[in-house]
Amino acid sequence: MKTKEIFDLAIKMGIGSDFRGSLGVQKFIDKKKKKYDSLSEGAKELYDIEAITNPYLDSRIHNIGEDKEIKKVLAGIDVDTAELLLAKSLGDIDLVIGHHPVGKGLSSLGDVMNLQADVYNYYGVPINIAEALNFPRIAEVSRGVTASNHQKPVDAAKILNINYINVHTPADNLVAKLLKDLIEKENPETVEDVISLFKEIPEYREAVKNGSGPKPITGKLENRCGKIAITEITGGTEGSPKLFEKMSQAGIGTVIAMHASEEHRKKAEEAHINIVIAGHISTDSIGMNLFLDELEKAGIEIVTFSGLTRFKRF
Ligand SMILES: [Fe+2]
Repeated sequence: MKTKEIFDLAIKMGIGSDFRGSLGVQKFIDKKKKKYDSLSEGAKELYDIEAITNPYLDSRIHNIGEDKEIKKVLAGIDVDTAELLLAKSLGDIDLVIGHHPVGKGLSSLGDVMNLQADVYNYYGVPINIAEALNFPRIAEVSRGVTASNHQKPVDAAKILNINYINVHTPADNLVAKLLKDLIEKENPETVEDVISLFKEIPEYREAVKNGSGPKPITGKLENRCGKIAITEITGGTEGSPKLFEKMSQAGIGTVIAMHASEEHRKKAEEAHINIVIAGHISTDSIGMNLFLDELEKAGIEIVTFSGLTRFKRF
């Protein structure tokens, strides 16, 4: 496989695990296409053309230095100039895959948050409420990333002539689906049962050893879970804190999150929702591993770094 085929596989896998279903994703893309078609020629030149084919704009091909068959991949959670220099110094890396968005992936982070409304809706929050709270939060996140120097690692990849992509929401969709299926199958009764269940997952076991294992940040271990929602795993970043009250009204008792800010924690507590923090980098690792498994099955050697703990599932 070449770089573009690897990237396309990530997008395809992300769609396969998307809460919106493939039809919902297609509708999202179709709206972008319609918007593009309605633009003037001048506006079309400035439009992010990737939006009409890629539903996950936080994931991008940042540089193709040499368009060759990829035999060895270096994959990590955060890839900046230092990591790219490390990749170069190893001498035999054909492609670097990062998880967190950089470049145009970071400036478009708000766009993938559109899927969150469908996730909340899946768990019973009316779509009008989910969208009404989601749209201002998307605007807030989009404003928040304007300060960053997005292109820094992309510039480094170009100078070093390294093939470099990042895969964010497709990987987060994969882990969200894995956790959703696990919760639906095992139906844990208490918060402690959720934690015990997660500790059977190798990436979380490793995180426990490193001091960052799954833990509740609101509610007690002995609390019964009620309805469990996997709402804070995919969709770019944390949703609106105001959604906790709405989730509570929709009958949700426990939320599984990668991480949560103090404001989110407080709002969840006020709404009597248990939040279980699965763990940020460990959860990111699961999603990336599910994708990397497919590359390894295709004969590509995988080396991991930058926080990614590699466990295979085949
Ligand atoms: Fe992350």
